[in-house]
Amino acid sequence: MYNSKIIGLGKYVPDNIVTNDDLSKIMDTNDEWITERTGIKERRWVKPESGETTFTMGLEAAKMAIERSGLDTDEIDFIVFATLSPDYFFPGPGVQVQEALGIKTIGALDVRNQCSGFIYAISVADQFIKTGMYKNILVIGSELQSKGIDKSTRGRDISVIFGDGAGAVVLTREEDTTKGILSTHLHSEGKHALELASEAPGMGGRWITDIIADNNPEDLSYYPYMNGQFVFKNAVVRFSEVIIEGLMKNNLDKDAIDMLIPHQANLRIAQFIQKKFGLSDDQVFNNIQKYGNTTAASIPIALCEAWEEGKIKEGDTVVLAAFGSGFTWGSAIIKW
Ligand code: UT7
Repeated sequence: MYNSKIIGLGKYVPDNIVTNDDLSKIMDTNDEWITERTGIKERRWVKPESGETTFTMGLEAAKMAIERSGLDTDEIDFIVFATLSPDYFFPGPGVQVQEALGIKTIGALDVRNQCSGFIYAISVADQFIKTGMYKNILVIGSELQSKGIDKSTRGRDISVIFGDGAGAVVLTREEDTTKGILSTHLHSEGKHALELASEAPGMGGRWITDIIADNNPEDLSYYPYMNGQFVFKNAVVRFSEVIIEGLMKNNLDKDAIDMLIPHQANLRIAQFIQKKFGLSDDQVFNNIQKYGNTTAASIPIALCEAWEEGKIKEGDTVVLAAFGSGFTWGSAIIKW
């Protein structure tokens, strides 16, 4: 048995900055409400004419991660791509990355676990490396949210929160099992599936042909729906539980945490967790202020920035944790 460890990190965010004041010009919202309730000051939304997509952003992040890993692209054995906003209904963007990188005919897996997508994705990659099946795996989280949200006042509780961007890591085999990803912990509770969901396009709801025939601008099934307060209450409980689960599995105390990188859902959630675990500002990394919630991309972007800023050092215990649509949640305990 091996462990896996992260040897390359990359990120990509679109140039186009959209501030809270910009949003107040297109819907009934304001900087004070958004800042107070979420901590977000601005987010990146791709410009329609840029041609950027979930795939193209993921590819840029992947190229940076591979370059920083020191590996040749040909040494990548497998791709895992997490997103809720793929370019196509099918196939998923993993195969687009395989083609664009020109890597043989390696496998490409798409992960559909929304805000927990990156944790699920590195967990899958970690298992493949642990068993020895693959040595080097590229894991990507990328989202283009801005194209699929209701930017009128009707959708303001969702649209002010979500942003576009991508992050990626390269995982490789680590023979010392006291280093690298020590454990991952995954959970779901599908009874709450529709508390945070986008029902269309999907084959469980209305027939796509009927939606098209109706051509009804009031049909909201293509927009995400979120029961915000219910999600918030569940998030704070599950974040705490799954962090504790990870620490206990490794016989670690909360004092062992050098860096906690929570999924960037809401600064208030991160602050609640920080307080609960008695962590200092230096022990929790947040960048939701700049990027909003980028779903599956939020943890790899934050991890990349924390590393770039020198906030993660060799030997540190790094904890990743996420909660979101599904509900799904998870954590990863890493010895850097
Ligand atoms: O990443 C996946 C996991 N997601 C999360 O963890 C998100 C969890 N939930 C949240 O972060 C919060 O619930 C929100 C930030 C989404 C909303 O904050 P809230 O404090 O729960 O507000 P609320 O939904 O209870 O709405 C309060 C008021 C409402 O007005 P009334 O009914 O009190 O008159 C809303 O209509 O705020 C209004 N409102 C807004 N006002 C200005 C909702 N959105 C906006 C807005 N600007 N953008």
